[in-house]
Amino acid sequence: MERSLVLLKPDTVQRGLIGELISRLEEKGLKIIAMKMMKVEEDLAKEHYEEHLEKDFFSDLFNFITSSPIVAMVVEGEKAISIIRGLMGATNPFEAQPGTIRGDYGLDLTKNLIHGSDSTESARREIDLFFDEEEILEYDLTSKKWR
Ligand code: RTP
Ligand code: MG
Repeated sequence: MERSLVLLKPDTVQRGLIGELISRLEEKGLKIIAMKMMKVEEDLAKEHYEEHLEKDFFSDLFNFITSSPIVAMVVEGEKAISIIRGLMGATNPFEAQPGTIRGDYGLDLTKNLIHGSDSTESARREIDLFFDEEEILEYDLTSKKWR
């Protein structure tokens, strides 16, 4: 079973799409095992996106992710990391396929609605950054046997 850190970015919150995007994860059968609304402070933004610190687009990305609250989640499921990346669609909403979150809702490379961890190593690192161990819940999803 894999875990992924999912962030519903500031544009999702501001556009009233939190429910819509959570539904996509739930309808797929993924299990949300932690969730909170929060503001991403400067240090956390830099740590989370450390691989992009030196990139030209970093200041746009930083200003965006710290601009307004987000919803952070830990999502669990079989092959959850690649499943979620698939549901998200390509990073650039102009390239994302219809049917994906970014393909259906996005028109901007920075304001691309959602983050999902890109590997098991990233997931472990990112979940540790955003959540304390006691915020992550272990429970059975009873609908699982019907999927
Ligand atoms: P994320 O980390 O947010 O889930 O997105 P991702 O893996 O699909 O894309 P990544 O390469 O990690 O880039 C992180 C975020 O930076 C913004 N970006 N801007 N202007 C640009 O060329 C550019 N490239 C990336 C996007 O908002 C992307 O989600
Ligand atoms: Mg990324």
